[in-house]
Amino acid sequence: MQPGFSLPSFAKLNWTLRVVGKRADGFHELFTVFQTVSLHDTIHFEAAGELEFSCDDPSIPTDDRNLIIKAAQELQASSNSIWGARVHLEKRIPSPGGLGGGSSNAAVALMGFRRLWNLDVPDETVNKIAAALGSDVPFFLQGGTAIGTGRGELIEPIGDIDESEMLVITPDVNVSTRVAFERMAVPTLTNEESNRILRVCRLEADSLDLLHSELINDFEASVFSAYPEIKRVKDTLLDLRAARAALCGSGASVFAIFDKKEARQTAQEALGHEPTWRKFAVSTISQGKYREALGI
Ligand code: C5P
Repeated sequence: MQPGFSLPSFAKLNWTLRVVGKRADGFHELFTVFQTVSLHDTIHFEAAGELEFSCDDPSIPTDDRNLIIKAAQELQASSNSIWGARVHLEKRIPSPGGLGGGSSNAAVALMGFRRLWNLDVPDETVNKIAAALGSDVPFFLQGGTAIGTGRGELIEPIGDIDESEMLVITPDVNVSTRVAFERMAVPTLTNEESNRILRVCRLEADSLDLLHSELINDFEASVFSAYPEIKRVKDTLLDLRAARAALCGSGASVFAIFDKKEARQTAQEALGHEPTWRKFAVSTISQGKYREALGI
């Protein structure tokens, strides 16, 4: 049994997020480019007789609705063993917020429990558990910059995109990912149509040049019309000279890229007038940094 340890659980944003169509299983076929960023929760793991979980944010459920507990249960089921652990989550990533906080916690829990309990579970099994826990969870087993297709669970790492001067702003609005998908009313596509659209998306991603190409998130139109406050965040960031800004996942967070540190600082100071918006200065976390931080 390992002694106790702590792991960072990073947030993500999406450089691009295309909703390709509706699938027969009710989920949506996606094409996205994920990116881990420096904003993070911290999860503390310690050996114990039983599974105990606590969190410093009272709004986070600590029973088996929490993906950290589900991750522990699934790992135990797959290894036919029962282990205990004392786990504490320091929550910093707004939840919900489109930043993948819960999914990141789930993936880090899988890595953490595997280490704490010295489990010999194959990567393939861990990947399957991750995909069953949530569409974004497999991405967080790898981190960095990566294309996500399928429900978002099929991950292909690509070259690092490096941005150091960014802001993530989260207004006080709760967007349900499920409802956001439903509001989009995208057509049910045949496999052939999906494959054609995916090929186009891939070409777009290959030439993704953040400061010159537009950042596309297909949730923006419907989310902005349902929640004008989120559109106001994006417009404000662009008025404050962000080079680019886009919705994170299905929101409510919006990220912005600045071309200089001073520009980001000036924007951050100006946003002091918006007391209900949470503000985070972030930079990208490459796959190398991610793996090092998690010891994988
Ligand atoms: O997989 P996850 O739990 O993150 O998804 C939350 C909800 O978002 C799903 O229940 C589904 O309604 C919707 N969803 C979808 N298509 C995806 C991912 C999620 O329709 N690719």
